[in-house]
Amino acid sequence: MSDARPIGVFDSGVGGLTVLAEIRDRLPFEHTVYFGDTARVPYGVRQLREVREFAFEIIRYLIGMDVKLVVVACNTATAAALKAAQTEFDVPVVGVIEPGARAAALETRTRHVGVLATQGTVTSRAYRRAVHYLDAGIEVHEQAAPDLVPLIERGIVEGRELDEALQGYTRHFRESEVDAVVLGCTHYPLISAPINRALGPEVRLISSAGQTALEVGRILSRRGYLRRPRDPEDTGASTFVCSADPDEFASLGSRFLNEEIHVVDPAAVFDSTA
Ligand code: DGL
Repeated sequence: MSDARPIGVFDSGVGGLTVLAEIRDRLPFEHTVYFGDTARVPYGVRQLREVREFAFEIIRYLIGMDVKLVVVACNTATAAALKAAQTEFDVPVVGVIEPGARAAALETRTRHVGVLATQGTVTSRAYRRAVHYLDAGIEVHEQAAPDLVPLIERGIVEGRELDEALQGYTRHFRESEVDAVVLGCTHYPLISAPINRALGPEVRLISSAGQTALEVGRILSRRGYLRRPRDPEDTGASTFVCSADPDEFASLGSRFLNEEIHVVDPAAVFDSTA
């Protein structure tokens, strides 16, 4: 049996492409639809209630595109909407917080885990809960980093401005026993080199992208939803949609994915969500 429906993936902007890349790597035969809500990025400074409304709107849009599973490739939206979305929609909905928390709980030796995330994710305490569900003795140190997403969305992934911001955001981790830091925002793997430099070589960086992709594979496989083409050359195709300027998204997305991408005009998005 083969299920050719696409996997839907969304984020506030380009950050979720880090998750999409892992999904495409691990599940190369799957078609994907990526939605970047660039008209409303950043999510991290908004009320969680508002982010939940955005997430529901996008999930409805993706379901309209006949997706077989939705990946909330945004920590803030996962914190704000995952449980409600799982209850509301018939398709499986996968988030990024639990996989990252699990990886961190496995990695830490000092049992001090850092979480670098948006203000919304920190306020929700979702990582603390997820880590403590696995090991209540782990000390979770959470740090909000509100300047990072706007910089990355402007294409700034290195340089002095970023390094200075990171020095401030990582100070508490450096001064504590933290030995593993969760990249608690899907934009942050795009700046993992400067984050690594700021934290020093002893601290491990944990990204949930790989674990999330594994989880997607497990769900599709167990439910019999995998796409299984006869021809092994027939790999999956990706469609990209955003809610603001498609050219800007295409140029940044192409740079981060290392391939030329074409992005659907946002007018088409608003037509079909109307
Ligand atoms: N990639 C989103 C996340 O993982 C960024 C949220 C934002 O837009 O501030 O939280």
